Amino acid sequence: MTVEPETIEVRSIETGSNPTRYARGWHCLGLAKTFHDGKPHQIKVFGTDLVVFEDSKGALHVLDAFCRHMGGNLARGEIKGDTIACPFHDWRWGGDGRCAEVPYARRTPKIARTKSWINMERNGLLFVWNDPQGNPPPADVTIPGIPDYGTDTWSEWTWNTFHVTGSNCREIVDNVVDMAHFFYVHFQMPQYFKNVFEGHIAAQHMRSTGRDDIKTGVQLDLPDSQTISDAMYYGPSFMLDTVYTVAGDVTVETKLVNCHYPVTQDSFVLQFGTIVKKVDGVGDEEAAAMATMFTEGVETQFKQDVEIWKHKTRIENPLLTEEDGPVYQLRRWYSQFFVDVEDVTPEMVQRFEFEVDTSRALENWQREVDETMALRG
Ligand code: FES
Ligand SMILES: [Fe+2]
Repeated sequence: MTVEPETIEVRSIETGSNPTRYARGWHCLGLAKTFHDGKPHQIKVFGTDLVVFEDSKGALHVLDAFCRHMGGNLARGEIKGDTIACPFHDWRWGGDGRCAEVPYARRTPKIARTKSWINMERNGLLFVWNDPQGNPPPADVTIPGIPDYGTDTWSEWTWNTFHVTGSNCREIVDNVVDMAHFFYVHFQMPQYFKNVFEGHIAAQHMRSTGRDDIKTGVQLDLPDSQTISDAMYYGPSFMLDTVYTVAGDVTVETKLVNCHYPVTQDSFVLQFGTIVKKVDGVGDEEAAAMATMFTEGVETQFKQDVEIWKHKTRIENPLLTEEDGPVYQLRRWYSQFFVDVEDVTPEMVQRFEFEVDTSRALENWQREVDETMALRG
């Protein structure tokens, strides 16, 4: 039986609206070393402005950027001892948010406080904790350390930053379940694809090969190489991915970070970086070349995502096939970060697993790739 097109209702896109608050969780502001340069740094994040500065002992502090005296911008000021000094009237603010000194005044308003943000350095990265309710992070909600990070087992972080405007950061998170876009946007062939959500962690386990017709470097241009990727979102915005690229008897281990922080509800800063483990039997030069090739490949792939996000619409009611993965369940997991802790429901945090059957997709994709290759001769 054929269905006449006019009897089928046209589907409408519900765009919904951006959230009214910013996610509770750890947000990575970038490489820690960029903040250890003796200068204050202004960060536009969570719809506000923060200042990051280093005290005389080398500890980093994060405060609201605008001075509680007359609104001067502390990020334009100077670090003096353990305080940040406002450029307007030199009020000195300590890392705890207390006013430490007003040099021209007889009496310093010692009970005056500005907002100090909880921060943490881990794996060479700086994180700030956001909680609209003002609670500190629970002990189990943290960013895991990378074993042997900081030793010469690993190369230095490569780090890339993009400012994406006209898009809410949920778009990036949707990627976690999106098996099919790996072929079209990232030029990968996902052989195996599974998601597990539990508590504040959302995982994506993928085994993939490259496309014969489009090379990006992620497969290191080694023939028959396979990529084993286990990526975890620790909270709403920080993904740490362990990637093994296996080609013959060479295995390269990479840690890939994909993280973001919201600037406003319709713009965000996207950051990604990689470190590569030194491989036995592979010389330093070759290892560095591999790291560069991998990183450039990842960069190409990220830019592809950014192009999609910049031009797509927000969609609350995506129309899905079985191969599209658990988009709605992922968004339910993500919603836990946008409600008060006491309103987090069991459905948002209970364990959920889903494996996408990639067999039909792979059959069709292989045919498509073969046809392209045949045309090239
Ligand atoms: S505005 Fe900062 S010291 Fe006056
Ligand atoms: Fe993507």
